[in-house]
Amino acid sequence: MFYEPNKRNHGLRKNPFNSLILPRPIGWISSVDKMGVANLAPYSFFNAVSYQPPTVMFSAGVGTGDDRLKDSVRNIEETGEFVCNLATWDTREQMNHSSIGAGPEVDEIALVGLTPIAANLVKAPRIAESPVHLECRHIKTVEIPGWSETDNYKAIFGEVIGIHIDDDVINEEGLVDIRKMAVIGRLGYNDYARVDEESIFSMKRPE
Ligand SMILES: Cc1cc2nc3c(=O)[nH]c(=O)nc-3n(C[C@H](O)[C@H](O)[C@H](O)COP(=O)(O)O)c2cc1C
Repeated sequence: MFYEPNKRNHGLRKNPFNSLILPRPIGWISSVDKMGVANLAPYSFFNAVSYQPPTVMFSAGVGTGDDRLKDSVRNIEETGEFVCNLATWDTREQMNHSSIGAGPEVDEIALVGLTPIAANLVKAPRIAESPVHLECRHIKTVEIPGWSETDNYKAIFGEVIGIHIDDDVINEEGLVDIRKMAVIGRLGYNDYARVDEESIFSMKRPE
């Protein structure tokens, strides 16, 4: 089949786009507003975009408030900071719960029963239950032009200025033990993948 997204002519039950780019890493973004209310939400339009300086981005659709911003975007644009927490098998339910469309006054970290801990360089909290935290400074927001006002996306870029790795997931060879972290990724529809012993394989790059 072939379809042109802007003609919405895929003819399938659901828009297949999210089922074609996968697995997507999940940026589990914690931030804080200028009054100090914490926020947590998962974003799978998320990735690392450069090594040096280490840089990540996530992209957020339109929010439900008057300013049409998702809380994460509003907070990050106000404070210039955020933390990206790694979502794992053990935290999958809380990750999913934290995507609830709660108002800006709701602290989703408390709501879903996770433990906030202070970051070293930014005001946004880290999630204690997550094995990796990337402390980020907002670099810029790029607006993705939409077909209509409701299709508008904002891509937030952040420089990773501090990295926490749980010592338990660093092995004796000084490598991050990916098998131990049991990271999850987003597939299409309501599906996810788990990175584990069975799904990992290795290949050497050509010389
Ligand atoms: C696994 C997962 C991935 C998601 N990825 C995105 C995304 O990339 N962009 C987006 O706008 N919303 C995404 N959402 C929905 C947001 O998490 C949801 O709108 C949330 O309420 C936003 O919270 P905030 O307003 O506190 O930032 C995702 C939800 C889940 C469960």
